[in-house]
Amino acid sequence: MSTPTNGPARAHRGAAITGWGTALPEHVVTNADLEARLDTTDEWITGRTGIKERRHGGTTASLAIEAGRVALDAAGLTGADIDYLLLATCSPDYQIPSTASEVEAALGLGGGASDLNAACSGFVYGLVQAHGLIAMGLPRILLIGAETMSRLTDPDDRNTAILFGDGAGAVVIEATDGDDSLLSFDLGSDGTLRPLLDAPIGGYMQMNGKEVFRRAVSVMVSSASNSMASAGVTADDITLLVPHQANIRIIDAACQRLGISADRVASVLHATGNTSSASIPLALVDALDRGRVRAGDLVLLVGFGAGMSWASAVLRWPEVGPDIGEGAP
Ligand code: ACO
Repeated sequence: MSTPTNGPARAHRGAAITGWGTALPEHVVTNADLEARLDTTDEWITGRTGIKERRHGGTTASLAIEAGRVALDAAGLTGADIDYLLLATCSPDYQIPSTASEVEAALGLGGGASDLNAACSGFVYGLVQAHGLIAMGLPRILLIGAETMSRLTDPDDRNTAILFGDGAGAVVIEATDGDDSLLSFDLGSDGTLRPLLDAPIGGYMQMNGKEVFRRAVSVMVSSASNSMASAGVTADDITLLVPHQANIRIIDAACQRLGISADRVASVLHATGNTSSASIPLALVDALDRGRVRAGDLVLLVGFGAGMSWASAVLRWPEVGPDIGEGAP
């Protein structure tokens, strides 16, 4: 392994996802559990959100470590092979230091490590940054989206308690001399919309659900359209859409406007609830494990979240061949 932190930057080279993994806490919170203590019903939650259950427990670091370990094993790597850890989270375990530092130590990672907070768009922000770091010369990145949203959620607030869950998803991204799998991306942020959803340090989240809903559909459609246009592809070319898992009605409305049929959408929402930065990798890994993506397929990732932030990217799924890692200088 070499870590060219002071080495020459190469103008451009390919990168590909070569390993993935997830982690979910054991404790399942069903709609029936919420019905027993809140003024809500399974029928309301299922009908308005598509969520049937979510998982609560662990720490952000513990979930990230578990998912990261699985992803490293799947890529056939050890922690020492990694040159940078990007941990997307809006529910860090500490204010100082980064949660990434605990993950870095537990997994024995090489190189730098930092947290990234772009709320529910964080994983796609991280994916783009990871490709940038690889283009600048780093051979291998571990990207993890990990959250313990249950800690930020007032258990007595039926507006938010029904929505959020905990979990983590991780991918290893490696340099390759083949074509870059990231064809295009679109990142955005509108800080004037911050009051729609926020959580003070040490406090619970508050959310204007109706307004977030309305804007979420609109930014998902515009961001996904921008990414597809930049990649020179259309909705018909997309094999799999991996949307942020917040509300099935948001996903359905966005898909309808984009012209992407439900059978081309990755979803774990019913079983996980909204896990913020972890939701896109959880849904992606579920689809990969089900064999829904083959080499050459186009995968569209679309996230939105507090900030308000949004992010999308088009990936051409790589042929994981012997050139993986060969892009390393
Ligand atoms: N159970 C039963 N009734 C409820 C519940 C509940 N859990 N919550 C609200 N209601 C009631 C309301 O009080 C209202 O009653 P009223 O008509 O008597 O006033 C009625 O149900 C309808 O409420 P709405 O808020 O209009 O319901 P809506 O259909 O908008 O669904 C929801 C609410 C699910 C929150 C939806 O707006 C939503 O999903 N918004 C997006 C949220 C989101 O994605 N947030 C994450 C952003 S990502 C991040 O960065 C963390």
